[in-house]
Amino acid sequence: MSVLVTGGLGYIGSHTCVELINAGVDVVVVDNLYNCKKSSYDRIKALVGRDFKLYICDIRDKQGLNQIFEEEKIDSVIHFAGLKAVGESVEKPLEYFDNNVNGTLVLLDVMRNHGCKKIVFSSSATVYGLNNVSPLTEDMEVGGVTNPYGRTKYMIECILKDLYTSDNEWSICLLRYFNPIGAHKSGTMGEDPNGIPNNLMPYITQVAIGKREQLTVYGNDYDTHDGTGVRDYIHVVDLALGHIKAVEKVESENGLFIYNLGTGIGYSVLDVVKAFEKASNVTIPYKIGARRAGDIATCYSSTKKAFDELGWKAERGIEEMCEDSWRWQTQNPNGYPD
Ligand code: NAD
Ligand code: WQD
Repeated sequence: MSVLVTGGLGYIGSHTCVELINAGVDVVVVDNLYNCKKSSYDRIKALVGRDFKLYICDIRDKQGLNQIFEEEKIDSVIHFAGLKAVGESVEKPLEYFDNNVNGTLVLLDVMRNHGCKKIVFSSSATVYGLNNVSPLTEDMEVGGVTNPYGRTKYMIECILKDLYTSDNEWSICLLRYFNPIGAHKSGTMGEDPNGIPNNLMPYITQVAIGKREQLTVYGNDYDTHDGTGVRDYIHVVDLALGHIKAVEKVESENGLFIYNLGTGIGYSVLDVVKAFEKASNVTIPYKIGARRAGDIATCYSSTKKAFDELGWKAERGIEEMCEDSWRWQTQNPNGYPD
């Protein structure tokens, strides 16, 4: 089986490539290096002990994508490539719609022209919006999103559903990720955000290593056990393994499948701070700040459907997530080398 992985040098893509290659899948990566370093490619190769094909190309470049499909025999696609910063998407909506939505349209068109009709798409729990109550199940209404990034994910889900309705030779799997954290056990691969991290775990690890003074906890007056926001953090390697099951699913039957990838367990911001302090033996100074616009109190997954239909469940707990994030940060204080 040969899988084209778009955005395969990014945080989730790189971990997924390692698991795919270790499972015997032939991997071809396309990435425009917009939000990753090329050295992530070397780290993947070092971990799996073999070479694989990388195309440095933008997915909006139709000619470039066509060439990849002509040169390689691609059975299915895992589509990670996209921009993902919620705040930035409010500032730059056109760039987000162009990169995420237009990029996906170009990719789907090229796939169809080459008779490749199997795709696994990186969606997000953000599509559940503000109005659903956790645990979130796949049949809940989606679309009440609050920002352009989330809207791109919702729009792409709609496009993929319409595509399947138009032609049920397609096999499409929408994976709604909850909050991926953690890193590869080796400490050689992990999340490498540009500038000030938007997300909780990279912020905590940067405070722990002395790059940032203190964490600001965005609000402690939510209706949760300690007042801080509750999320479903999932180890990136568990997430990567979920993609193997999803690719097997689209390879084995046609259809439109939707799965949450989460643990089903919610931890508050302060729970994560405590778990990280225990794992790292470092105290994390923090202050309580205002709520962040668009945040909700609680968001965690129902895990039943992914387990029943894919036989997948997350195995790694919060301790391991914190230990692995910290190992990556300490071994690579400045992220991937240039
Ligand atoms: P990432 O930024 O680390 O990886 C994305 C990769 O795609 C990067 O290597 C980037 O260079 C590449 N890319 C972006 N636009 C491209 C384009 N036009 N052509 C080719 N390559 C392009 O992000 P990630 O955290 O690994 O996320 C992967 C996917 O999962 C994204 O679609 C994201 O929206 C989705 N997702 C992420 C999270 C999360 O919290 N990390 C949660 C839910 C969903
Ligand atoms: C987690 C919790 C914050 C930073 C985002 C996207 C979502 C998905 C995953 C892509 C919240 C709190 C955070 C900080 C804090 N991405 N926090 N101080 O907001 O659940 O989800 O990433 O699809 O679409 O919205 O993740 O890590 O930003 O926040 O107190 O400095 O930590 O308020 O309760 P979030 P996060």
